[in-house]
Amino acid sequence: MYFKQILDERCGCASYLVASRQSREAAIVDPSTDTDQYEELLRERGFRLRYVIDTHVHADHVSGARRLVTEHGGELCLHESAQVSYEFRPLKDCEELELGQLRLRVLHTPGHRPELISILLINPTRSPEPSMVLTGDSLLVGDVGRPDFGGGDAASQFESVMRLLRLPDWVAVFPGHFEGPCGNGMCGRPSTTIGFERLYNPLLHLERGPFVSSLANGVPARPLNMTAIELTNRGLTDMPQAMLTTSPEVVEIDVEALERLSPDSVVLDVREPEEYAHGHVPGAINVPQADLASGLDELPRDRPILAICRGGSRSLRAAQYLKQTGFDRVASVKGGTEAWRAAGNRLAFGDTSGVEEPRITESGWAHAGAS
Ligand SMILES: [Fe+2]
Repeated sequence: MYFKQILDERCGCASYLVASRQSREAAIVDPSTDTDQYEELLRERGFRLRYVIDTHVHADHVSGARRLVTEHGGELCLHESAQVSYEFRPLKDCEELELGQLRLRVLHTPGHRPELISILLINPTRSPEPSMVLTGDSLLVGDVGRPDFGGGDAASQFESVMRLLRLPDWVAVFPGHFEGPCGNGMCGRPSTTIGFERLYNPLLHLERGPFVSSLANGVPARPLNMTAIELTNRGLTDMPQAMLTTSPEVVEIDVEALERLSPDSVVLDVREPEEYAHGHVPGAINVPQADLASGLDELPRDRPILAICRGGSRSLRAAQYLKQTGFDRVASVKGGTEAWRAAGNRLAFGDTSGVEEPRITESGWAHAGAS
């Protein structure tokens, strides 16, 4: 058996190359858009690509699966319920794929997405039992995948992780993410075991009700360019350029500088509409980071753009993305709307950029009819 985990530092994703050293057949699971790295491995090791498996339709990175299959052959595999516009081998729960002497057993583990599968790796020459499981975004290290990217649901996620916990303690867990937006509390390690997670994953100690409500809490912040990325992965559009693939330098300004704004500047609030409605910098326009790549036409290229979010991290990545796509005069507001409010500045409310009188609640957030 050959097994390699490949970590993508930019998006926090993990992909995998599994192969039989006997038959030289290989499977690639959840490939990133940078397919050169897998091609190099296949070439160096003399492996022939037999399967490319996406554990689910990804919302945070463009999959390299179709390109790998086009260029190297092999079968493109997804769970049978996947809603995509291209041909694929539909996998069923408990189905086993042969890879030389190895067996890849499919477990349907919906929750993060309805079509999400986990893959048990079995090497019968060593043991009839599985030794590893690739969990996609079901069970993560110290966390579970978020169910709020569209189509997912927390109750299914509960059932799925409970199913995974029925595996023996020794089974090594290799998730689809080690950091990034698909979870809320990943510990950062790239792998774990079923036994360790059973003991120390805080979410796995919760009963169904508290588990479901803990995943439903808070305003979901969908990943950067999720709309364009998901449509691309479904085959409904082709926007590989929706990925942030560079780290251009972006000026970060503080809120005092925002107060002295030149009148032609555009304040671009990249939070979710619900967050924006609950209080934003007066005059700011709202394009959520998830819709940024598909909403570029709404932004003027001849005026300075100041990206702002809640605390400054989403806006920094959004500003980097704008720079990557050719917007020259872009900055990110350090500390975000929280810092603006903490400095005693006036907020505007509602789902347009019109200014109203602030109504501050106990928590400091103002409400304008939204729950
Ligand atoms: Fe995901």
